[in-house]
Amino acid sequence: MRLISSSLSSSLVLSLLLSSTKEVNAGITVYGQRPLAQTLSAAGPATTTLAAYNDTELIPPPLPTALNRQPKVELQRDAVNVQGLSMPHRTASFFGFSIEMSVINQVLGKNSTFIQVPFLNLMANLQERAGHVLIRLGGNTQEYAVLVDQLDNGKAIAKEKPNNTQTTMTPAVLYTLDMFYTAANISQLVNVNWFLGIPFNDTNWRLAIAEYGEAILGDKLIGMQAGNEPDLYDRHGHRPAPYGPYDYYREFGELLQTMQANDKIPRKNILIGPSLSGEWAPEMIWDTGYITTYQDFLYALAVEHYPSNNCAAQFGVGTFQDPQENFPRYLTHNAGVDLVRPYLNSTAVAQQANKPFIMFETNTASCGGFPGISDSFGAALWAMDYGFQMAYSNFSNALLHIGGQNVYYNPFTSPPTNQSTFNQWTVGAIYYSVLVLAEAFGKSNTSQIVDLTGAIGSEFTPAYALYENGALSKVALINYNDDLLGTRGPSDLSVTLSVPGAGVPSSVKVKYLQAKSVSSKYNITWAGQTFGNKFEVDGRLRGNLNVVDIPCDTANNACTIPVPAPGFALVFFNSGDEFASLGQASSTFATSAHTKTINTITIDPSLLATSNGHSAKDRKTFGSTSKGGQKANAGGRVRGEMMGAIVLGGFVAGVLAVVGFR
Ligand SMILES: *[C@@H]1O[C@H](CO)[C@@H](O)[C@H](O)[C@H]1NC(C)=O
Ligand SMILES: *[C@@H]1O[C@H](CO)[C@@H](O)[C@H](O)[C@H]1NC(C)=O
Ligand SMILES: *[C@@H]1O[C@H](CO)[C@@H](O)[C@H](O)[C@H]1NC(C)=O
Ligand SMILES: *[C@@H]1O[C@H](CO)[C@@H](O)[C@H](O)[C@H]1NC(C)=O
Ligand SMILES: *[C@@H]1O[C@H](CO)[C@@H](O)[C@H](O)[C@H]1NC(C)=O
Ligand SMILES: *[C@@H]1O[C@H](CO)[C@@H](O)[C@H](O)[C@H]1NC(C)=O
Ligand SMILES: *[C@@H]1O[C@H](CO)[C@@H](O)[C@H](O)[C@H]1NC(C)=O
Ligand SMILES: *[C@@H]1O[C@H](CO)[C@@H](O)[C@H](O)[C@H]1NC(C)=O
Ligand SMILES: *[C@@H]1O[C@H](CO)[C@@H](O)[C@H](O)[C@H]1NC(C)=O
Ligand SMILES: *[C@@H]1O[C@H](CO)[C@@H](O)[C@H](O)[C@H]1NC(C)=O
Repeated sequence: MRLISSSLSSSLVLSLLLSSTKEVNAGITVYGQRPLAQTLSAAGPATTTLAAYNDTELIPPPLPTALNRQPKVELQRDAVNVQGLSMPHRTASFFGFSIEMSVINQVLGKNSTFIQVPFLNLMANLQERAGHVLIRLGGNTQEYAVLVDQLDNGKAIAKEKPNNTQTTMTPAVLYTLDMFYTAANISQLVNVNWFLGIPFNDTNWRLAIAEYGEAILGDKLIGMQAGNEPDLYDRHGHRPAPYGPYDYYREFGELLQTMQANDKIPRKNILIGPSLSGEWAPEMIWDTGYITTYQDFLYALAVEHYPSNNCAAQFGVGTFQDPQENFPRYLTHNAGVDLVRPYLNSTAVAQQANKPFIMFETNTASCGGFPGISDSFGAALWAMDYGFQMAYSNFSNALLHIGGQNVYYNPFTSPPTNQSTFNQWTVGAIYYSVLVLAEAFGKSNTSQIVDLTGAIGSEFTPAYALYENGALSKVALINYNDDLLGTRGPSDLSVTLSVPGAGVPSSVKVKYLQAKSVSSKYNITWAGQTFGNKFEVDGRLRGNLNVVDIPCDTANNACTIPVPAPGFALVFFNSGDEFASLGQASSTFATSAHTKTINTITIDPSLLATSNGHSAKDRKTFGSTSKGGQKANAGGRVRGEMMGAIVLGGFVAGVLAVVGFR
């Protein structure tokens, strides 16, 4: 049970005040919801690590006493013979992201001319696999959002009360039209499709976000939330109690009526609801007649849910949850199964209504996640299992929440303000889960998935089979066991797969997601490549691609796949599968900034003119036409520039850089 809102992600936003010097920390303003434990003084550097960069490593849970290390699974080659197969998934972009509105600046970029290049690279890698990426801009902070003409220093987003520390009364987010241009410009570079949310804090509907969202984003805006966690509205004081399902049903209709009368909103049929947090069973809304009444106006049905919360540690609300004690709860197949169970009826209801069913906001735990869990390799295994389980249970998509620098669970995080060169991002372990699922579902738009864990026989070794165009295409194998590099094990699995009838192919290709331990935050690799460790990320995979070719025993109809403890294996049955040989995306954004005073990159306008990024081999041709721009190799004037150039030099030669100032 959640004590306060799931998405109270305490969006501490750090922002350098405009400074004429390049000195870092010349002036830092801390704004956002209630700051966490750390304090940042304007005079000096941070004294405590922000949550997103916290190094806590937990102890891996003990090994189960009985573990079958050599399970055998008999697969079916043809989908028609598989019981319980999911609906076909129309996109490989199963996982998308939900970005708390108040931290858009941190993640996307300061404004439409300062877009974060590592962010673009991370999206390009997903686009290469899934064709597009879903991003929701919203969260609790969308409810009080207000469009304003202008904000200081050309920002697209700010908080009304910079030092607001209330926990349940979300402060207003102020945004300018530039927020839409930022999103639109991003969609020109990478194929991102957006969700927005119409403020629902009261019923004096503020429809600017719908008007401008539709006008500026066009068909890149695919849906708009009407209400965010209405089942918490009375508890959060957004509505007088009692506020029930019929109140939400009625207000949804009132909003719709207001939209009908507004000719600046051409598309009135892309609404999303009810986005319940789990307080009300979804059936309570279905039973109001919501779907039948509003089906012509609904793009999708949605819910939001987190398995746990860290509200006590973050905000002093509720019962303290010890991360170490909670860790084992993530490292089991039951985690995903339990999360999905309350929605099984609803995914069927949605299919009958012909609507996508989206987990609109989720992550390891609300109120910022848990130190040691949320950014661990264990969380990556959990997220893959949970994502596969949702897909198997006929969820259409799921969006992993991003809360900014003072939460633990981000799939990716921009650098704190004193480390703002472009290649100093941090990728959370769960970003790899997003990438892996995109490869697993593939590009055919026909993927169906079945849970094979029952056949393997252990909650600690989940397995799934994926079918494309009606035929077996891949098998996904997870090993949650951690044998501390053999000191307690070995718990490496050898999973034997067989295929009746035509039998197994002569060999299969296997990609591994690996790290030393479930508690690791470092050296996570996908098919041998990594985005780099904390503060090392520019959004591109590096290292040599290592796809393992495993010969099968065709005489005995068996492919035996080792799965390290811990680890994940994606087995490609079709050796010609394009993803079996794909590493870093060919489209990357190598423009770089190199001062420590900015958190974002100035993009060359000529770059904005290209539609899908550009080939990495062209990157040397980039120059700057931006005002204030300069080339990195013109000689570093401050340490930051030098550092940026040197770090970069080891990775990409001859990159020209562009400077921007906040
Ligand atoms: C940023 O500040 C933190 C905390 O003081 C410090 O540990 C880190 O080294 C600084 N980073 C840079 C690049 O100066
Ligand atoms: C990481 O988080 C834990 C739990 O909140 C805290 O005790 C620890 O001090 C943090 N570490 C750093 C370096 O801030
Ligand atoms: C998912 O939907 C398919 C039909 O499209 C159905 O056969 C299957 O049982 C559903 N799975 C679950 C777990 O509800
Ligand atoms: C809803 O949010 C708007 C914008 O922040 C604010 O002006 C208004 O007072 C809020 N309504 C209520 C009932 O709090
Ligand atoms: C973005 O911010 C920069 C620096 O403050 C400013 O020069 C530029 O005009 C801003 N762009 C927009 C579109 O507001
Ligand atoms: C918040 O900032 C305002 C204006 O800067 C100041 O008057 C007020 O005392 C501050 N409140 C807190 C709690 O710091
Ligand atoms: C990018 O944003 C700017 C506003 O700052 C706008 O003038 C420009 O047209 C945008 N470009 C695209 C491709 O949307
Ligand atoms: C599923 O939901 C529908 C709509 O709320 C409801 O009528 C039906 O009883 C539910 N079925 C189950 C098995 O809960
Ligand atoms: C999958 O769907 C996307 C988006 O609708 C489309 O662009 C793509 O061509 C489709 N792929 C196939 C193989 O049909
Ligand atoms: C990560 O890998 C590098 C290179 O193999 C090694 O030097 C380093 O110690 C590893 N880091 C951790 C935390 O295991």
